[in-house]
Amino acid sequence: MSIIKLLSKKLKRKLFTTPSHNQKPVFDKDVKSFYEIDYSEIDGFDNLANPKNSIFLAQGKVADIQNAKQTFFTTQGATTAILSAMKALIKPKDRVLVARNCHKSVFSGLILTQATVDWFIPECDENWGIYTHIDVDKLNSTLELNQYKAFILTSPTYEGVNSDISKISEICKKHGVYLIVDEAWGALYKFSKNLPKTALEQGADVSINSLHKTSGALNQCAVLNISKNIQNVEIPLFQKAINLFQTTSPSYPLLKNIEACYSFLNSKKGKKEVENLISNIQKFKKSLIKHDVEFYEGENFDPTKILLRKKGIKGTDLAKILFDKFDIEEEMSNSTYCLFVCGIGTTKAKLNYLKNALKKIPSSNYEFEKHTFQPYPMVKIQPHKTFNCEFGFVDKNNCLHKISNKTIMPYPPGIGLLYPGEAIQNWHKDYLGNDVEVII
Ligand SMILES: Cc1ncc(COP(=O)(O)O)c(C=O)c1O
Repeated sequence: MSIIKLLSKKLKRKLFTTPSHNQKPVFDKDVKSFYEIDYSEIDGFDNLANPKNSIFLAQGKVADIQNAKQTFFTTQGATTAILSAMKALIKPKDRVLVARNCHKSVFSGLILTQATVDWFIPECDENWGIYTHIDVDKLNSTLELNQYKAFILTSPTYEGVNSDISKISEICKKHGVYLIVDEAWGALYKFSKNLPKTALEQGADVSINSLHKTSGALNQCAVLNISKNIQNVEIPLFQKAINLFQTTSPSYPLLKNIEACYSFLNSKKGKKEVENLISNIQKFKKSLIKHDVEFYEGENFDPTKILLRKKGIKGTDLAKILFDKFDIEEEMSNSTYCLFVCGIGTTKAKLNYLKNALKKIPSSNYEFEKHTFQPYPMVKIQPHKTFNCEFGFVDKNNCLHKISNKTIMPYPPGIGLLYPGEAIQNWHKDYLGNDVEVII
């Protein structure tokens, strides 16, 4: 089907995926046809590569809201913000420590910066099959082993678990290590006391927010926040890095949407909307407990996320029933859980629809299995050296301990199980085809 045809009909499906806006503007309501406001850097308009005027002012306004030294807009998603942050702070041969549950863009950043990576394995919840927080004592001892330039982690995680960024930033400062927090999923945190403090408020050097995930903005709206910890002399490097990756024709409709998103979220109405979202989700959860629905909770959990399992039903089966019978699409499921993304745009009516569907689905007798997690990855060739490597194919039966030239990555969530340059272990075989691409 052509794209034109695909998008010609309104989709009635109830989406609990990104973008959270529900295909309707909550702010930026006067959003005209993209054509009417689609300009380039014409006379009197600003230039995202060297902002001096409207974009400069809008970025400054967001920096003030975030209490950042500087905020940069990008119309290419958190991906470009992550690449830029890494390129600005990390030089070739610098050693960096990266949480293994980082988004794939961090691996791209390792290729582009030519850094040497050590992976850090976050804590795991074997009942739910998710990575959770960063253990600060383990982090402290790891940072003592080597001189690292930066530590990169995701908080909140894709599934909604926050790490203690205050403690982590203290540890990183003690070791002279930059702390880069991929806070793509935490863009609402600044706007409610009932949400965790932002990474920047907790001492991170750099944070990245994706605005389409939970904040009701259009796809590809994201910001890069630089903390006041960063020296003035280093600031131009961020613009230089962004200019390496950013299109020279950024979309004004998207730039306007970023500005409108922050103006809304920072207004009384916007903050009330965030509170409503939190309280609607709280009520949703409360009403389902007596219907054999169990929620992943805890003080470190993002209250805007819904991670649940229904008694005796595999998460993937639950997702299929919701889809087939109720026209509901979840963000992700595994053999245990279903994950539902909520944000600005998630209405009470949509939550009620999901609630009623979950009530109607009878529980069953499947016994949830404990999940196992991948052992420490065996990095044989550093990411940047793998990019142009010569490669060939071996039979799956002969691939053990050979060096992969491929990534194994379920999407979502875009977290690699195996990256190029890593030795193939037995458990990877479940994900490989018969001909395995290996570096020779
Ligand atoms: C944790 C995390 N960081 C970064 C990204 C990339 O965001 P974007 O799609 O805005 O480039 C994603 C996308 O899912 C993500 O989950």
